[in-house]
Amino acid sequence: MGATPGRKLYEGKWKTLFETDQPGRLIQRFKNVPTFAAARTPVKLPRRGAMKNQISAALFTLLQKNGIPTHFLEVLSDRDMLVRRLEMIRLEVVLRNVVAGSLAKRLGMEVGSPLAAPVLEHYYKSDALGDPFVNDFHVNALGLATGEELKAIREMTFRANGILLPFFAEREILLVDFKLEFGRHDGRLMVGDELTPDGCRFWDRSTRENLGKDRARRSAAREAAAYQEIFQRICA
Ligand code: TMP
Repeated sequence: MGATPGRKLYEGKWKTLFETDQPGRLIQRFKNVPTFAAARTPVKLPRRGAMKNQISAALFTLLQKNGIPTHFLEVLSDRDMLVRRLEMIRLEVVLRNVVAGSLAKRLGMEVGSPLAAPVLEHYYKSDALGDPFVNDFHVNALGLATGEELKAIREMTFRANGILLPFFAEREILLVDFKLEFGRHDGRLMVGDELTPDGCRFWDRSTRENLGKDRARRSAAREAAAYQEIFQRICA
């Protein structure tokens, strides 16, 4: 299919979106280093953008094969993928299988505690506000999504969990939690943005060692090795 990048449409922390000569299609280019200050500065990783591109492509393809629409169309080059243009819904949808991160803090629960059932949460996408936690009533009152859309988003997120959990388990990875973003394309809801270790929490299934950014004894070298390790387990 191919496409050449045109006007820059949007620049986020981890990626830039460009228009193309094809209507309704954009180029999503992944960055090696994030542009804006993150809560924790991620380690410098050579080829991070390329790994983000390949991991997202692999996981979006997996979801699509299992009937969950995503914006992904094809990998164009090292850091570029062709995607459908979406009207983004300003929500971060988080699915949790095990207690960790902000859930552990908010409810005073021990990290690693099992959950009797997966937990789905919504955060309002706003860097200025630090992505605050919102519920259905906020989503409705702010007009972020219709009740029907919210229902479909939840259903797709739980189904994605059902696909991703065994996929990662086969690779000796416990998918502790992950974040999805959704958008509308021709009136159809689909998963957008990226699906990479920068928006997921991964633990080694046997050692329960954190394979990502908030590992306990964090060192740049180990974190870089962990990212590479996840990449190998997903894309090799
Ligand atoms: P949390 O425990 O910090 O709330 O994060 C839960 C999951 O969602 C974790 O896998 C990281 C992901 N996430 C993002 O990628 N971006 C965000 O802005 C938030 C709030 C969570």
